[in-house]
Amino acid sequence: MLRLLLNDDFLLILGMPTLHVPILKQPIVDALIYPFLQLSKDAQTHWLIDCTLGGGGHTAAFLDAFQKNPQLGHHKILAMDRDLSAIQNAQSRFQSAIEQGHLELVHARFGDLLNVLENRPVLALMADLGFSSDQLGDANRGLSFQAEGPLDMRLDLSQGMSCRDFLARVTEKELENILRELGEERFSRRIASAIIDQRGRGQLPATTQQLAEIVIRAIPSSARHGRIHAATRTFQALRIAVNDELSELDALLEGLTAAVQPQGRIAILSFHSLEDRKVKQQFKKRDFFSALTKKPVQADEIEIQLNPRSRSAKLRIAERRDRC
Ligand SMILES: C[S@@+](CC[C@H](N)C(=O)[O-])C[C@H]1O[C@@H](n2cnc3c(N)ncnc32)[C@H](O)[C@@H]1O
Repeated sequence: MLRLLLNDDFLLILGMPTLHVPILKQPIVDALIYPFLQLSKDAQTHWLIDCTLGGGGHTAAFLDAFQKNPQLGHHKILAMDRDLSAIQNAQSRFQSAIEQGHLELVHARFGDLLNVLENRPVLALMADLGFSSDQLGDANRGLSFQAEGPLDMRLDLSQGMSCRDFLARVTEKELENILRELGEERFSRRIASAIIDQRGRGQLPATTQQLAEIVIRAIPSSARHGRIHAATRTFQALRIAVNDELSELDALLEGLTAAVQPQGRIAILSFHSLEDRKVKQQFKKRDFFSALTKKPVQADEIEIQLNPRSRSAKLRIAERRDRC
């Protein structure tokens, strides 16, 4: 009975393999399955690449679409993620698809894309940028000020510098710029100064809530109770910096022409204006791509109500051109 009333995403939540609800799932699946439907029935195996496996929501939808179209059954999916725990969770969730050869999982980041692909013929590729709800909900990662946790913020816990180590090294000016540019934080100077001041007194924040408290104390009291939590922008900026997310996106965008075959499609879902601008600029390179979305696709009100995270999502889709 429950199964009749709830869609797959909510059944997954009830089953708890993931908390993450995939955003704009149907438009992404429709756009990326299309080039496979254009192939002749006996065409060789082609690949669809999910660069951001996360909770596996989009990957599951692609597997489903391949299975529902008998002529697509021999095409394959490769899903990657820089977070080893996303890969490990997916190994049990998708065990049968992996065993049957429909799905491959790889622990890798965007910069490794071309090495991971080797010479696979790729007809579709997607990236759903940022972090998953599973990562946000894991207090040990320190991505959220809602729960007390170590000030880490790394999406890939196997490498790189934690947020605390980053704050131990950054200069005040660099920190101010990061908060202003990546967080669009209007009190960037005050917050940077307060953090560096604490550092000078040997009291660098070690936990999420210690950092959130510094931010709240640093800003004017009139700004402490806005629509979003006062530390939201600082956490966003530091997460992007700690994970070098803009350079990672650059690496992904630079690899696209080599990765995806002519007539193949690319879908990128971004959550930050700087990211969306980079995607838009790349898809404007008319020798290589034709943009299929002149304006980004956004979630409708129903999706936003069901999943508030979808509010800031912007989806751009492009086709890889024949030339070059
Ligand atoms: C928004 S979630 C993806 C959610 C997924 N589409 C779903 O429906 O469950 C983003 C994922 O991308 C991963 N990620 C972020 N930056 C990455 C990068 N540079 N390389 C590989 N994976 C990355 C994160 O670890 C996270 O698991």
